[in-house]
Amino acid sequence: MSIKTVVIPVAGMGTRFLPATKAISKEMLPVLDKPLLHYAVDEAKSAGINNFIFVTNISNNFPFLYLSKNISLEKHLKKKNKIKTLKILQSLTIQKRNIKLVLQKKPLGLGDAILRTQKYIKEEDFAVMLPDDLILGKSCLKELIKVFNKEKSSVLAAMQVESKDVSKYGIIKGNKVNSKMMKVSELIEKPTLKNAPSNLAVVGRYVLKNSIFRYLRKTNRGSNDEIQLTDAISVSAKNEKVFSFRFSGKRYDCGEKLGFLKAQIASALLDPELKKNIRSELKKI
Ligand code: UTP
Repeated sequence: MSIKTVVIPVAGMGTRFLPATKAISKEMLPVLDKPLLHYAVDEAKSAGINNFIFVTNISNNFPFLYLSKNISLEKHLKKKNKIKTLKILQSLTIQKRNIKLVLQKKPLGLGDAILRTQKYIKEEDFAVMLPDDLILGKSCLKELIKVFNKEKSSVLAAMQVESKDVSKYGIIKGNKVNSKMMKVSELIEKPTLKNAPSNLAVVGRYVLKNSIFRYLRKTNRGSNDEIQLTDAISVSAKNEKVFSFRFSGKRYDCGEKLGFLKAQIASALLDPELKKNIRSELKKI
């Protein structure tokens, strides 16, 4: 069976985006007129996903609010004849039964966040998306699921990063399968440049075999004193096949200011209306 469920963890503190993230959570920061969450949900839907599990902290109910039907707002838009906007809202809505919220009281890491979802995922294989990694262009998740369906093994989204940046990522050690794929033998979380086995970094899209839960249960706190998903995947790669795939889209790290700013400009350049003036406006600035 193909992948139908995605886990979207949104329980982090977003400290790099304070003070903005004091009152709203990071996935609600907008790139142009849509929050990061919206882009992630669109990407997932276009990959055939219909079940959404959000790992949230006690004060974050935003995903549920954003994705639920708002009858009075829809009535208002209809009355004002704002049909285009109405359609965007309607297509965003996800049935309540297809959204699950899982509480992570303390941000103990991505691995811990994923582990908490097992009661809903049960025996299924599933996808994970980090909404602060915005990927524009072809649906990255769709590409990964295609590889997963062929290989019947976990697949991680990967991209080349500059040497100066390897210490910010989980870095892949492995053997080349073809121009886009590696068979992963190990992942090293935030290595020094000297210890990095490659420049190939894991970014926030994963399609995982259900067996990952077994490895997560045995994973101790690692880098940053958090339970790291990459540590569990790395151990799993010793016992079963794990692949990385260089996706076609362009990824922006919207968890930090420069990446977020670049994402705004890139999105404006893709927008049919904005792109007419954005270059000249940027020159003026
Ligand atoms: P980050 O590593 O960017 O952490 O999380 P963060 O806390 O959100 O941000 P900073 O580093 O303090 O600025 C990547 C994704 O994983 C989620 C976050 O919400 C984000 O979507 N996450 C992270 C959790 O759900 N739980 C955690 O314990 C850690």
